[in-house]
Amino acid sequence: MRLSRFIQINSSYGRQQVKLLLAQGRIRVAGDVTTEANLEIDRFVRVELDGQLLQESQSHYLMLNKPAGVVSSTEHPEHQTVIDLLPERLRQGLHLAGRLDLKTTGLMLLTNDGNWSRRVTQPESRIAKVYRVTTKDPVATEAEEVFRKGIYFRYEDITTRPAALERIDCYNSRLTIHEGRYHQVKRMFGYFDNEVTALHRESIGEIMLDPDLRPGEFRPLTAAEVALF
Ligand code: URA
Repeated sequence: MRLSRFIQINSSYGRQQVKLLLAQGRIRVAGDVTTEANLEIDRFVRVELDGQLLQESQSHYLMLNKPAGVVSSTEHPEHQTVIDLLPERLRQGLHLAGRLDLKTTGLMLLTNDGNWSRRVTQPESRIAKVYRVTTKDPVATEAEEVFRKGIYFRYEDITTRPAALERIDCYNSRLTIHEGRYHQVKRMFGYFDNEVTALHRESIGEIMLDPDLRPGEFRPLTAAEVALF
């Protein structure tokens, strides 16, 4: 991102005022005064205005272990939402980078950075999402093959992208999909009339649910995790 844009986003100053701040030598990048509005900066560099760090507490990125029965939206008339699981001071401006069904558990990403969440969720990015799936009946013998070839979803008039099934035992498997259609995993197993009785998201791209997080707990993403998208 260009430095002038970064300052604008992360301060209360408009475009003209940002130019002035730069011209007045009030901006430091990685410790050095800079007047270069077009300087390309990355999100980890330290940018200061009058000695105050600009980016701190501006962008939040969290992972949360969603419990069953909690709705993945910011507001809901009936159910507790994932936002309700966070302390008040962190809630402002946060949105969800992807959703899970009410009963589904596991990894959810939350942020106030719209560009970042778009990169996580946009269908073209084909990010792998891994789910641990428990089914009512044993998984069909031909499931690997069918999931790999894709299943036709009449409502959307699409065929699902190749998905990988790894069997754990008859009733438990791990499914990797590269899109996020409505109730996608349940509908894929529904092709075999097999009901999904438990569904747990383990990872999104290379971000894995932290095994130390109990249901309902969250932690900030590390800088390395944020940089994955
Ligand atoms: N697929 C589903 O069917 N439900 C989810 O919550 C996520 C993926």
